[in-house]
Amino acid sequence: MAKKVFIKSYGCQMNVYDSARMADVLGADGYSRTEDAEDADLIILNTCHIREKAAEKVYSELGRLRDLKERGARIAVAGCVAQAEGEEMIRRSPQVDLVVGPQSYHRLPEMLSSLTNGDPDAAVETEFPVESKFAELPPVQANGPSAFLTIQEGCDKFCAFCVVPYTRGAEYSRPADAIVAEAERLAQGGVREITLLGQNVNAYHGCDGGLAVLLRRLSDVDGVERLRYTTSHPHDMDDDLIAAHGEIPALMPYLHLPVQSGSDRILARMNRRHRAEDYIRVVERLREARPDLALSSDFIVGHPGETEADFLETLALVETVGYAQAYSFKYSPRPGTPAADADDQVPEDEKSVRLQRLQALLNSQQLAYNQGSVGALVDVLFDRNGKYDHQIAGRSPHMQAVFVDCGDAGEATALYGRTLPVRISGAFGNSLGGHVERISAGTAGTASIGELQGA
Ligand code: SAH
Ligand code: SF4
Ligand code: F3S
Repeated sequence: MAKKVFIKSYGCQMNVYDSARMADVLGADGYSRTEDAEDADLIILNTCHIREKAAEKVYSELGRLRDLKERGARIAVAGCVAQAEGEEMIRRSPQVDLVVGPQSYHRLPEMLSSLTNGDPDAAVETEFPVESKFAELPPVQANGPSAFLTIQEGCDKFCAFCVVPYTRGAEYSRPADAIVAEAERLAQGGVREITLLGQNVNAYHGCDGGLAVLLRRLSDVDGVERLRYTTSHPHDMDDDLIAAHGEIPALMPYLHLPVQSGSDRILARMNRRHRAEDYIRVVERLREARPDLALSSDFIVGHPGETEADFLETLALVETVGYAQAYSFKYSPRPGTPAADADDQVPEDEKSVRLQRLQALLNSQQLAYNQGSVGALVDVLFDRNGKYDHQIAGRSPHMQAVFVDCGDAGEATALYGRTLPVRISGAFGNSLGGHVERISAGTAGTASIGELQGA
C-alpha cells in the first residue's frame, strides 16, 4: 500500500513552496500527500521562526500529535524552527523523529531510510547546500492554476529584528534557465499564474539584468497569463524593474513592498538601508510606470527605541502612500538578532495599543480600496473553492479575493482554472463579491455556465 504524507505549512509563501517540493521529493519515494493527519505514515510540520508566537505553535502542535506518533506515524519538523533549533527540538519533544532545515529537505528519503535502518545520526539535517537542493529535487508537479516558484533563497540584509538570514542562510539566486524550465513545466500542467518567491526577490541576480529580465523571459512562456513576485526590498527596486511594471502586461498591478516603519530613526535602527522619503519616491515612480498599481506592505510596531513620535511618522507614511492591503505585527524579540539585545524595548501594552491604531488605519484604507471596485468589471482567475460547494473564489489582478456564487457545485467547478470577467457587486474588508458577467464565445464549457451568462 502506498505510504502517505501529511504536510502542514506555517509562515510565508516560501514554506508553501517548500511543502509542495517536499511532496514532490517524497512522491518520487512512493508517498502520496494526504490532507488528513490521522491517515498519514509521515507527518511534517513545516515551521516558521519569524515571531515568537509562530515558533511556539510548533510545540503545541507536536503535543497534539503524540497520539498519532503512538499509532506509528513518523514525525518530522522542517522549516525555519527546525533550522534554528536543530537537535534541541528532539530533546524538547522526543516524539520528533526527524529535523530538517529549509535547504536540506531534498535529503528526506535518505534520512527516512537511515532511520528505518536504525542510524542515530539520521535524525537532524541542517546544512545549507542550497545549490544541490535545487539540483537534486525531482521535476515540479503542477497543482492548480496558481503556483509559487522560489527563484531566490536566503537573505544577506540582516535587518536588526529578523531571523531569516540565520534560518535560510546566505542569499542565492537560482539560474534563470532552471527557473524558466520550471515555469514551462508548471504551465504545461495547467498553471496560469506564477508568483516568484524570495525574501529579497528583487535582488535576484541569476541572469544579467536581474529580475526585470527574468520577468520578461517568463512572460513569453506559453500559458502563463499572470506573473507576480514577492517579497521585495525597497532598496533593490531598480529602474528597469520599475519600468517593467509599465511594460509587461502579464505582470500584475500589485506589489508587496514592505517598509516596516515611517521613522528614519527607527529605519536606521532596523538596518533597513532606506529612509521613509526614499520609499515614498520609489512608490511614486512605480505609480508613474503603472498608475493603477495596488500596494501592500509589512509594518512592525514597537521596535526597540520606537517612541510615540516615531510611530506617528509610520501613520503619516501610511496616509501618504495609501495601501490596498497590509500586514502589521508587534515587534517580537528573536534570539540571536541584534534588536533582541537592545535595552530600550517597548512595553508590551504600548505595542498592543500602537498595533490597534495602525490596523484601524490600514483596515479603513483596505475597505475603501475594495469599495472602489464596486461596479467595476474585474478579471478573476478562479483558483480556489469558495466557502460552500456552489461558490468559487479567485483573485483580481490587484490581488483582491473575489467570491462568486454559482447555481450549483457543477457550475463552480466549471469555472475553476479560468480567468473571467466578474462584475463586482459587494466589497468587504478582505474580499469582493460579484458575478461572472460574460464568457467569450467558444470558451463556455458547460450548459450551466450558459445559464450563468444569461443571469
Ligand atoms: N523579506 C521581507 C520580510 C520577511 S519576514 C522584507 O524584507 O520585507 C515578513 C515580515 O515579518 C517582515 O516584513 C516583518 O514585518 C515581520 N517581522 C520580521 N521579523 C519580525 C520580528 N522580530 N517581530 C515582528 N515582526 C517581524
Ligand atoms: Fe529579514 Fe530584512 Fe532579510 Fe527581509 S530583508 S528577510 S526583513 S533580514
Ligand atoms: Fe517564517 Fe522562515 Fe518564512 S522564518 S516567514 S518560514 S523564511
